[in-house]
Formats: sequence, structure tokens, C-alpha cells
Amino acid sequence: MLTAATVAVRPAARLRGEVRPPGDKSVSHRALLLALLAEGESRISGAGDGRDVRATAGVVAALGATIERSGDDPRAVDYRIVAAGREGLREPAGILDCQNSGTTFRLTAGILAGLAGFAVLDGDGSLRGRPMGRVTAPLIAMGATVAGRAGATLPPLAITGRTPLRAIDHATGAPSAQVKSAVLLAGLAAEGTTTVRETVATRDHTERMLRARGIAVRTEHLPDGGAVHALDGEARVGPLDQLVPGDISGAAFWLVAAAIHPDAELTLRNVGTNPTRRAIIDLLRRMGAEIEVRPVGAAGDEERGEPLADLVVRSSTLRGIDVTAAEVAAAIDEIPALCLAAAVAAGRTVIRGIGELRHKESDRVAGIAAGLAALGARVTVVGDTIEIDGGRALTGATVETHDDHRLAMTFAVAGLVARGETVVRDPGSADVSYPGFFGELERVRA
Ligand code: S3P
Repeated sequence: MLTAATVAVRPAARLRGEVRPPGDKSVSHRALLLALLAEGESRISGAGDGRDVRATAGVVAALGATIERSGDDPRAVDYRIVAAGREGLREPAGILDCQNSGTTFRLTAGILAGLAGFAVLDGDGSLRGRPMGRVTAPLIAMGATVAGRAGATLPPLAITGRTPLRAIDHATGAPSAQVKSAVLLAGLAAEGTTTVRETVATRDHTERMLRARGIAVRTEHLPDGGAVHALDGEARVGPLDQLVPGDISGAAFWLVAAAIHPDAELTLRNVGTNPTRRAIIDLLRRMGAEIEVRPVGAAGDEERGEPLADLVVRSSTLRGIDVTAAEVAAAIDEIPALCLAAAVAAGRTVIRGIGELRHKESDRVAGIAAGLAALGARVTVVGDTIEIDGGRALTGATVETHDDHRLAMTFAVAGLVARGETVVRDPGSADVSYPGFFGELERVRA
């Protein structure tokens, strides 16, 4: 873990080599939580070992599973989990600390709604400011009792669950895989069929992973890009061995680094290319990025598993593009890195519908606009639209990251191409999703 308050990044003469991104954070969280709900032994290989996933592992242990972690490569650790199914869930003795992890908090809330007992979810200063009403409202409608600040919409939250819950038909407001997943996980403990409707189909790891564990999640894709998911409750999750793909959200920093650098070629190994996660590849290609996708099979089968590919990315000549709100939802965690690409690209990039980025680990709209502007980019935010007039050379400066891992990594990558020295404040947040990121940054420039 990086403890220094700043890290200075100097421009790289060239970027070369192979990078194996850490195990996908979204898949790692779900594999752990589904192992908790299963009866029997589950194994997870290649999980990311960032602080967020460790927070989920802590929650899984506190809720009654036996959990062993092995391996010393922080990009890929293995777990063995033995649990006793939904009936075996234990009322936790202490507060469940989700640290910086919204996914841990919201998905666990969905599980706690169906646990006949009392539990308190909390997190760090960032998490305590993130909106939870989007998940507590449907869980309360299903019969859970939730107390918390601001009318049970801000952490810490105290949840008294019950079983069975009432099945509901719920339309998520803002596109959110976390809300969808929380309601589906609660739906496992409900009487009847739980339905979740989304206006934009978000990442579908929960649905795939539930199917692989014997739960018939029925998904209908709508012509306008939305989706409807339904599952029957009082269902038993089977134990399963899960291979975790490399995290495309971590790979995104290298895709952008190589595409904007004048002398670069990087190969990213074993990256998850699930169609609901790969939008960043398609957006960068639309900007002119040279990215080759070499499929290398899948972790599991086509419907229930996760496709994998090696990605080869080379120095590219980028041009600005228009990005729609639906595309933002599909690349939600990659927008900071995309904005950096836009700052280097020729012409204007317009990204619409970025409001959700204000509710992440920090206000990423403010953070990316201020950081890129400090580096000399021309950035304008009007309502929920960000406009970036690219093509100006970036110049190193001190940039604030607001303890947000994606901002820290984005600005570190900017430092590889900016003139002079880029000083990234509070780089340690990278450990949340990408332990070892700064070591890799030094390695690929060597
Ligand atoms: C995630 C969903 C996204 C994403 C987050 C991980 C998940 O959040 O930003 O990093 O694993 O489901 P929302 O679903 O709230 O948009």
C-alpha cells in the first residue's frame, strides 16, 4: 500500500510490455457474496485483492461463512469459502464496515433485507456521503425495516430484515447495477417473483453468476436499450468454483495510456470483455484508438460465464467524439480515463448524461474537470454535459484526487505524457481497486 501523500510522475520515453490487470472487482464482490448465500464449499480463483474486495470478504466472514484467502499476488488471490446457505446467515456481532466500497454496501443491504436479524452497515467518509435511498426504498417496500440518517438514505444504516420478503416489481431510477443486484439478491428471499426494470442495461455479472448457481434469472432486452429481469424467490443458491477475469476497468488506464502516448505498445492479458462492460474499448476505438481484441476463451459458458480476451493497444491518433448518456452508463467507471483521452485527442469531445459521476467515490465531474484543467486542458461542464476541447499539450502540475482511486490512476497516466512533473496527491487510493498500480506504471515505462 502506498502511504506517501503524493507521487511524482514524469513523462515516459516509451511504454512497452505486458500487463495483467487485477481480478475484476465487480465479479470478485459477487463471487464472495454468492458463496456466502450458497450451502457448501465455493472456491474463487484470481480475485482482486484491493481494499474494496477485502471489505466484502470481511462482511462475508462476519455474516457466518468460513473464509480462507491464499496467494500473495495482489492482482489475483484465491478464496475458499464454506457457508450454510441463506438459513445459515448469522446476525453480525459488530458493525459491517464496507470502507470505501459502494458495491459491498448496496449488495450486502440486499442480502440483509432477507436476514431475520439486526445489522448495521457503515463505511468511510466518502461512503457516508453516497446516496443509499435508491437501494433502501425498494428493500423497505419488500418488507425490511431500515433506519439511518436523512430518512434512511445515508450510511450508517441499521437494517432489520425478515423472511420471507414481499416480491416487488421495481424500476431503478438512475441506471445502477448495484441497485439491480441488491433487489435481485433480496428477491432470493422473497415470496413470489421479483422484477427489476432498467432503462439502460447495466453490467450483468449478478444475473450471469446467479444463473451459473442454479437460479433462473429471466432477462428480456428491450428495443430501446433497457432490460427487465425477473427471478422467483425462496430460491437456493448452489456453491460454485468461480474464475475471475481481469478487470477491464483497471485495463482501461493502460488502454488510454498507450493510445495517447507517442511510442507505446502494451498487451493486457486475460481481460474480461463481457458485452455490458466493454464499452470503453468501443468508445476509444471510435476515437481512433488502435486496440486489438484477441479472444482467449471464457470463464464459464457463454450465457453464464465471462468472456476473456488479450487486448493489444498501440500509440494512436485520437479525435474527439460525442458520447451519449447510455454510453456513459455502460462505461461509468471509465469516464475519467476517457476524459483524459479526450484532452489529448484532436477536436472536441462532448459527453452527455454524466450526473451519476457526482455520486461515486468522489464528485468525479468536479474532480476530473479541475485536474485536467490544472494540466492545461480546456474543459467545460454545463449541467450534466462535459465538453473537452482536446489537442493542447498537457503540462505537469499538482492534481487533487479527493482520495478517489479512479482519479488517482487517471492523473498518474496523464503524467506519462504531460511535460515536466505531474504530482498526484493521495495516490494510495489506487489500492481500493488496483493494488500495485504504481509499480506497474514504473515497469511499463522501463
Ligand atoms: C458496480 C456498479 C457501478 C460501478 C461500480 C461497481 C457494480 O455502480 O460504478 O464501480 O459492481 O455493480 P452503479 O451500479 O451504482 O452505477
